[in-house]
Amino acid sequence: MRPSPPPDPSPAADPARIEVALGERAYPVLIGPGVRHRLPAEIARVGARRVVVVSARPPEWTPDPGVPHRVVPARDGEHDKTLATVERLCRAFADFGLTRTDAVVSCGGGTTTDVVGLAAGLYHRGIAVIHLPTTLLAQVDASVGGKTAVNLQEGKNLVGVYWQPRAVLCDTEHLTTLPERERRNGYGEIARAHFIGAGDLRGRPVAEQIAACVALKARVVAADERDSGLRHILNYGHTLGHALEVATGFRLRHGEAVGVGTAFAGRLAGLLGRIDPARVAEHHEVVTGYGLDPTLPSDVDHDELIALMRRDKKATSGLSFVLDGPTGPELVPDVPEPTVRTALV
Ligand code: GLY
Repeated sequence: MRPSPPPDPSPAADPARIEVALGERAYPVLIGPGVRHRLPAEIARVGARRVVVVSARPPEWTPDPGVPHRVVPARDGEHDKTLATVERLCRAFADFGLTRTDAVVSCGGGTTTDVVGLAAGLYHRGIAVIHLPTTLLAQVDASVGGKTAVNLQEGKNLVGVYWQPRAVLCDTEHLTTLPERERRNGYGEIARAHFIGAGDLRGRPVAEQIAACVALKARVVAADERDSGLRHILNYGHTLGHALEVATGFRLRHGEAVGVGTAFAGRLAGLLGRIDPARVAEHHEVVTGYGLDPTLPSDVDHDELIALMRRDKKATSGLSFVLDGPTGPELVPDVPEPTVRTALV
């Protein structure tokens, strides 16, 4: 689909503004139509004199930072989420003469914000980065919270640092350029947010859905930046989701896999007696209500899924899942394998 031309470059009047409260590293997330045009103001706030903009979007959708800059093209997708890309970006920063008081801007989907965030976190031992996530998935989750990573052949997201951005600009006009499948993909993260405190966002305007998910994530990250406890809840539906991405060779996109994983988490919590049948059914309804398929692809090998889930980063004691329950979502260790297999339908 050819994207429509961008609308008039006038900053949105009143975007939603959510603060990620991390003390001296606190930063705003602005959400609304046209917020990409606030980039020069954010660059001025950071005080950068030169900027490298790493963009996976066409020039007409890549905003001008308002200071001398170079645009470095990038590609969204797992193939470029590598240490080789980080090296390429850092060399481009050095070639342009970025100093530690300058800044980097990412403009693209979650893989682009992840890899640019990591390059920014490493270059000169860390320079300012501002994210302009352009997919729904990146706006509701990936660009907020400071997790950056690249993949190794041995696994996904194995090398990364926590490096918080100085601002995140979620421009809902960017979403108008998305193919339908990519837009729906973002709803996997919104579906999982339903079960971890964002509330029922079905039928709400997209800017409100993004703001509710970001507000939830900002609260969780402010309480547990380094993922030592509470932050695990953001991985609701992700244990199976990540396994499915790998087992299908990334044929299933992240949000699609998280949708399947969310419906599975409901079934598993039901089998363990943690939630009642109505709540199990709600998992199915929410996932399908966002246009996602809640069922496992018929060609995936359940033994492989079990093996992959045993290697999940949260699995410190047997098969572990974030599951709904009487006191809300929590990490449940040592889930019996036969019960997991029963829920894998
Ligand atoms: N995407 C999960 C997290 O940021 O912790």
